[in-house]
Amino acid sequence: MPALLTEGVTAGYGRAPIITDISLSAERGTVTTIIGPNGAGKSTFAKTLVGVLKPMSGRIVVDDLDITRMPGHQIPRHGLVYVPQNDNVFKRLTVRENLEVGAFVAKGDTSARMAEVLGIFADLEKAKDKKAGLLSGGQQNLLAIARALMVEPSVIILDEPTAGLSPTYTDAVWNQIAAIARLDKAVLVVEQNVERALKHSDFVHIFVAGRSHVHGPAREIAALDLPSIFLGRSQAA
Ligand SMILES: Nc1ncnc2c1ncn2[C@@H]1O[C@H](COP(=O)(O)OP(=O)(O)O)[C@@H](O)[C@H]1O
Ligand SMILES: [Mg+2]
Repeated sequence: MPALLTEGVTAGYGRAPIITDISLSAERGTVTTIIGPNGAGKSTFAKTLVGVLKPMSGRIVVDDLDITRMPGHQIPRHGLVYVPQNDNVFKRLTVRENLEVGAFVAKGDTSARMAEVLGIFADLEKAKDKKAGLLSGGQQNLLAIARALMVEPSVIILDEPTAGLSPTYTDAVWNQIAAIARLDKAVLVVEQNVERALKHSDFVHIFVAGRSHVHGPAREIAALDLPSIFLGRSQAA
């Protein structure tokens, strides 16, 4: 059973669907990345998974539990967390305090959990008593990811975690993404940069006009004529 499974998910903001019939699965220990042109519905899909939007049809299952109709605020405690595109760390709180806020639905001892999370984010460990607003943009993105990990999710969804970062920091974030997958989590990433997505992911979905047009192992996707697919000219492999 994959950590995350969606079947035929259709959703939108009004009556017209923006995403149609999205079926996707993500296994623990792997990185699955959604790429596709601007406006293809990548963020809309992410928002549907975490209950911000209710699907018109389809099913969303996390660790064998159907969360399709679950209120958004209950979803994190069932193992699915989302780090939005324009992230919001609490700038006036310290790194440590941000992580404590992240643990709000966690069970048991959060200090042990914090030590574990800081153990994989060396930059944050060094800055744990610093105000989040004083961190670089890249470090703030990592803090948002670290905060999401405080609830020990099965699935973590990252919407453009490297947007606006320097190339060096982008690599650092992707290395962290790999490290998170190695913690036996399913990581679902939305990424603008096709090359980076193909390089760092196990599986890739290409969204075009609200549909998962093509998907498969990154190595197979890399061999396709991606420019044509992005323009909607080519059919699924
Ligand atoms: N809050 C919203 N209300 C209405 N339409 C929206 C909203 N957010 C996004 N859209 C529309 O949904 C489509 C897909 O957007 P989005 O999911 O953000 O795409 P992507 O993340 O792939 O760039 C776009 O046409 C966009 O204009
Ligand atoms: Mg988006």
